[in-house]
Amino acid sequence: MNQLIEAYQNRIEGFLNRVLDPSAAPVPELLEAMRYSTLGGGKRLRPLLVYATGEALGTPSGALDRMAASVEMIHVYSLIHDDLPAMDDDDLRRGKPTCHRAHGEALAILAGDALQALAFAVLVDDAIGLDADARLRLAQELTGASGVNGMAGGQAMDLAAQGKALGIEALETMHRLKTGALIRAAVLMPARASAIDAGLVARLGAYADCIGLAFQIRDDVLDVEGDPTLLGKACGADTLLEKATFPALLGLEASRQRAHDLVEEALAHLQPLGPEADLLRFLARYIVDRMH
Ligand code: IPE
Ligand code: IPE
Ligand code: MG
Ligand code: MG
Ligand code: MG
Repeated sequence: MNQLIEAYQNRIEGFLNRVLDPSAAPVPELLEAMRYSTLGGGKRLRPLLVYATGEALGTPSGALDRMAASVEMIHVYSLIHDDLPAMDDDDLRRGKPTCHRAHGEALAILAGDALQALAFAVLVDDAIGLDADARLRLAQELTGASGVNGMAGGQAMDLAAQGKALGIEALETMHRLKTGALIRAAVLMPARASAIDAGLVARLGAYADCIGLAFQIRDDVLDVEGDPTLLGKACGADTLLEKATFPALLGLEASRQRAHDLVEEALAHLQPLGPEADLLRFLARYIVDRMH
C-alpha cells in the first residue's frame, strides 16, 4: 500500500509542477510563491482520496489528476492564508518558512488568490475529458466546499471562536466546515464525474464526513502532543491562541477515542464495497494513526 501511495504522491507532484508553469507568468515572483507552497511538501491526503475513490469507482484516471490538483490547490491556498499574521500567524509550514515569511504578506495573499482561481481553471478545462454537465457538477462540488458553507466559513468560525468556549456541537460544525468540507469534495468529485448510484454516493459522503472530522481532531491532538520536527509546523499554537479544539474541550484521551470511533464508523460505511475500496480503508486508518 505504501508504494501505491508514493506512486500517487509522485503523480500529483508531477502534475502540479506542470500546471504551475513558471514560464507562463507575467510576474514571476507570484508564480514562485505559488510553487513554493504547493510543490515538494505535504501528505497530499486530498489528492490521495481522489485517487482512492477513483479506484473504488473505476473513474477514468486522466480526469482524476485534475480533480486531485484542484482540491490540493484550494487546500494549499487555505494553508497560506491560515498562516498569515491576521489568522494563525505561523512561521513554519511543511518544514519550511511559511509563504508570507518567505515571500512577504502581499504576495502570499495573492498566491492564495491565484491558486484558488487556478484550481477551478484546471477543473473545468476541456482536457479533463468530461462533458460540460459533469464539469459543472465538479465545479459546484468544489465551490460549495471552499466558500461560506465550507472551508472559508469554517475558518471564519475558527477565528470568531478564539478565546471562547464552544459547545461540542458548534465545535464539530466548525471542524466539518473548515476541514471536513474539502475532504468530502475530494471523495465526492470522482463520484460526480460518472453516473453512479445515489446510495453509493451517500455512503461515500458519510465515509468522508467521518474521516474529515477525525482528521481535524487528530490535527488538534497533534498540536498538543506531536513532534514539530515530524509535523513540519509548530505545536502548542492552538493553546497559545486559545483556539476552540477537541483536546481543549474534551481532553486528549476522549479526543483520541472520538477520532478512533469516527474511523470505525467510516469503515462501516464502506462495508458493501470490495477490495477496490482498500485504499480508502487504508487512508481512514492512516488519518488517526499519523504522526504528521
Ligand atoms: C493541515 O492539513 C491543515 C488542516 C486542514 C488540518 P494537512 O495536515 O493535510 O497538511 P499537509 O497538506 O499535509 O501539509
Ligand atoms: C486549518 O486548521 C484549516 C485550514 C487551513 C482550512 P489549523 O489552523 O488547525 O491548521 P494547521 O494546524 O495550522 O495546519
Ligand atoms: Mg487555523
Ligand atoms: Mg493554523
Ligand atoms: Mg491545527
